[in-house]
Amino acid sequence: MKLWGGRFAKETAELLEEFQASITFDQSLAHYDLLGSMAHVRMLGKIGVLSPSETEKIINGLQELASEIEAGQVDFSIKAEDIHLNIELLLTEKIGGVAKKMHTGRSRNDQIALDLRMYVKDQITNLQELLINLLTTLVDLADQHHQAIMPGYTHLQIAQPVTLGHHLLAYAEMFKRDYERLQDCLRRVDVLPLGAGALAGTTYPLDREMVARELGFSRVSENSMDSVSDRDFVIEFLGDLALIMMHLSRFCEEIIFWASQEVDFIELDDAFSTGSSMMPQKKNPDVVELIRGKTARVYGDLITLLTMLKGLPLTYNKDMQEDKEALFDGVNTVSACLRIFIPFLKTIVFKKEKMKAAAGKGFSNATDLADYFVQQGLSFREAHHLVGQLVNYCLAKERVLTDLSLQELRQFVPQDLPVEETVFTILQLENVVKRRSTYGGTSPEQVAKAVQRMRDFLATLRK
Ligand code: ARG
Repeated sequence: MKLWGGRFAKETAELLEEFQASITFDQSLAHYDLLGSMAHVRMLGKIGVLSPSETEKIINGLQELASEIEAGQVDFSIKAEDIHLNIELLLTEKIGGVAKKMHTGRSRNDQIALDLRMYVKDQITNLQELLINLLTTLVDLADQHHQAIMPGYTHLQIAQPVTLGHHLLAYAEMFKRDYERLQDCLRRVDVLPLGAGALAGTTYPLDREMVARELGFSRVSENSMDSVSDRDFVIEFLGDLALIMMHLSRFCEEIIFWASQEVDFIELDDAFSTGSSMMPQKKNPDVVELIRGKTARVYGDLITLLTMLKGLPLTYNKDMQEDKEALFDGVNTVSACLRIFIPFLKTIVFKKEKMKAAAGKGFSNATDLADYFVQQGLSFREAHHLVGQLVNYCLAKERVLTDLSLQELRQFVPQDLPVEETVFTILQLENVVKRRSTYGGTSPEQVAKAVQRMRDFLATLRK
């Protein structure tokens, strides 16, 4: 007999039984469901809806059940549909009829909203922990490489030299915002929906504040209909996860580029690379390709939730059961990606000589030459044009700007413009990066300061 079967004259079709069951995936919420039930029952005891002995019996039963489930000794049943009804049935088998009082003043609609919010809160903490590890790794690498010179690109064409530390800290900034976004999301997740009942509230004098305190929620929800019908907190969270993946994916794309034979800026560790079944020479960056690929899944999870909810009338609709697999998939994917990406990143060997040599190509110091001409009296537009001509001249001769003689340089500029030997010092890559010393710039000095700021930020999180 179904727990809701009173008005039904026929057995549920087996096909429907299987079709509608969510126990295969919502069993991962068992822990939260049990904690939620315990808090609810204690509160029912306190307001006198349950007697002290009933309360004790149910709580003890739930605690036993919790250890059995933890130990993997419990078989859930498709016939009992979802995690909520499974637990109620298992409890009834264990302690008898009194178990049926547990659901007083509660609906599965506010119950699932509670379980999901508890799950998301925990996952925010777990993912933030991983992001802190990633940030620590990045800041250590940036510190180590704050002077190493590499090409900076726009349009994937060499633009200006930057320091490797600066490049790595750009990602640290992105992941820092991801961390903060999760923190901000938490404020809206951290709201207790229990007490909403099926949709309208309940006739029992529930002490919602007590349940909130017991379960560690900062607030109780304001509107019972909203409590059971929205999943915006899941969408917001998945949006945050999609952004983490987007940042990871861009980073991965760069690592793939850096590891290519043509670029050859890095060597990947054998332990984190894979081979080809046919081509014996191959060493492939599968880790980063997979992370780039899995980004698609997380975007899909976000779109699943957005699409699932968009046409639903208030309040609860069974469509909403489809929220869980997408949410779990998003969480599992992001945490698996972060878990492997961090040790992978630590083992990358940066070929600093190659990076610097590449920065010496592509006329990455051309802007500095233009700036020099400006300092000597030209307008920036004139200087820009002149340096363009010099670049063309060098290209034809397969040389770079620092290969030119002072004589050659002087031939290109107006007669009265003073061009001195110091111009070649200015054009050296070390000086090109050193002089970009505005706050947030790429100079080693600024990067060292940025490393310190990031370390200070991380220190505030550990307090
Ligand atoms: N398994 C359901 C879900 O995941 C729980 C809520 C069911 N409520 C209901 N009235 N059928 O959404």
